[in-house]
Amino acid sequence: MKTEYDFFIIEREHLKGKKNFPFQLYIFNPLHKKFSMFLNGNRPLTKEHLDFLDYLFDKGGRLAILKNQRKTFLVAQEMNASEIPSLKERELHPLEKERLMNIRLKEMHDEKSGAFHFQSQFELACQTDNFEVIIENARLEILTFSVTISPTVSLAIHLAKTHLDKDNFTNRIVAVSYLLAKNCNIVDQDALSDIICGAYLGHLGLTQTPLAIARTPYLSLPEKERTLFQKHTILGHHLIKKSQINISERCKKIILDHHERMSGNGYPSMKYGEQIELLSQIVGAVSHLFEYSSGKITGGKQSMKAILIAMKSKSYMQGLEFDFGEKVFQSIITLINTDKIENKESIDTSLDKNKAA
Ligand SMILES: [Fe+2]
Repeated sequence: MKTEYDFFIIEREHLKGKKNFPFQLYIFNPLHKKFSMFLNGNRPLTKEHLDFLDYLFDKGGRLAILKNQRKTFLVAQEMNASEIPSLKERELHPLEKERLMNIRLKEMHDEKSGAFHFQSQFELACQTDNFEVIIENARLEILTFSVTISPTVSLAIHLAKTHLDKDNFTNRIVAVSYLLAKNCNIVDQDALSDIICGAYLGHLGLTQTPLAIARTPYLSLPEKERTLFQKHTILGHHLIKKSQINISERCKKIILDHHERMSGNGYPSMKYGEQIELLSQIVGAVSHLFEYSSGKITGGKQSMKAILIAMKSKSYMQGLEFDFGEKVFQSIITLINTDKIENKESIDTSLDKNKAA
């Protein structure tokens, strides 16, 4: 379908009283905000056509030419582009200029570093405990997002620009959530931005609970404090709503639902199955992986490889959750090639460490 970007507008006097044109004439209907064919090339412009044009201009309609017929129009009408206001170069918004620069930077980065392969980079990042390459790749991609889609996309770009530039716990969750979403075939910038903003804002609610709760491993929290910790989902969602920040409903849902689990064992609403959107499952799963690995759940650190081995074989590890929905689960367990490794030994070691913790 042709859009406004495919046309330039001309005035009636630009027809110069001629009756025949080697280009097509289109009209813009302000009522439907659509362009439609008015007169085919080399067809006579009749009195009926001109009467209709009078009527159309009266209603705010416009005459338009396809941009790919620009040269034909200018030659036939013996005009310069500078005489047609709509053909003058549009001054780009500074954010659009910045985006074009970021697209070029990304191209240069790809030429220098080659294609980015998420799984192999993730495995390397886990081995070296260094996620800089993963985070940088996510940042470079997000900075090429369109600046005119929605406030949530613009917020995702802003957060990537201002925060996604160092290797820390939150940025690991944001970058891996984003790349895992792409692994799950999510390509829409709206949805990817919901993931990015949801991953950044998911734990906003913890600012409303005592610091000691956030610093104590989840499984070590007494029942009352554990319930308080679980409230970070509702509190974060509430804060976002109260702030009236212009952010998508789907992003707010990620903040609220990232601890919901497919079988209904999650919180705060014990949602189950399709009640939990794929985007919330992704942020929930990735947050859980990093929380588990860093010791925020059991108190003991655990290698990502050992976690994924346990997940893949559905072996029991205290506090480890698997229940993220099939698509997300499959994407996660293939993040590291666990087939080639020292299998059983590794699991046993992990479980022993876990018991000790
Ligand atoms: Fe959380």
